Amino acid sequence: MSETLDQLAASRLVPVVVLDDAAHARPLAGALAEGGLPVAEVTFRTAAAAAAIAEMAKDGRVLVGAGTVLTPAQVDEAVDAGARYVVSPGFSRAVVERCAARGVLALPGAVTATEVQAALEAGITTVKFFPAETSGGAAAIKALSAPFGGVRFVPTGGIGPANLAEYLALPAVAAVGGSWMVPRDAIAAGRFDDVAAMVADAVALTR
Ligand code: 3PG
Repeated sequence: MSETLDQLAASRLVPVVVLDDAAHARPLAGALAEGGLPVAEVTFRTAAAAAAIAEMAKDGRVLVGAGTVLTPAQVDEAVDAGARYVVSPGFSRAVVERCAARGVLALPGAVTATEVQAALEAGITTVKFFPAETSGGAAAIKALSAPFGGVRFVPTGGIGPANLAEYLALPAVAAVGGSWMVPRDAIAAGRFDDVAAMVADAVALTR
């Protein structure tokens, strides 16, 4: 689990993906790999999510996780499909416990001191900070880092090329999540060369 977190932190970016068709999973994995960002958070916002995760896991080119996971049953579905980590928009003890039982990294959402404490009580030390921009942004993460020195954050929501640097500059930020480099419409239209170029541009911004 810590190895998975190390891989996410090394990538600096977690592309948040919405796939309408599992047939797009492998070409997307190719675009991510080609763009230099072999990571994907496939969200459970479409019926194709589990099949898409399974395709990516079989493909083997990207570190695949599940996003928008709201229930223990979805944890099982994601892990059975091959997800190596599980991201939730908020904190659910039941989801976190199922992740621990299944041996996968859980990244639950937390944006307040109370939510961070609840996560810590459940054994979580890295949280998704979502929705980042409307929850106080980088300044809020900096303020939370004072009392919670051991906690790392994966800010996501409203982040793009214009404000990426302010988040990546914070030592408490493990990685930044976002969808700007994997637009749903480009994927749905099969424009994987465009996606690869956007991914490469995003990676360049992290350097
Ligand atoms: C998520 O679920 O993490 C967000 O939808 C991603 O946010 P963004 O689209 O603003 O990058």
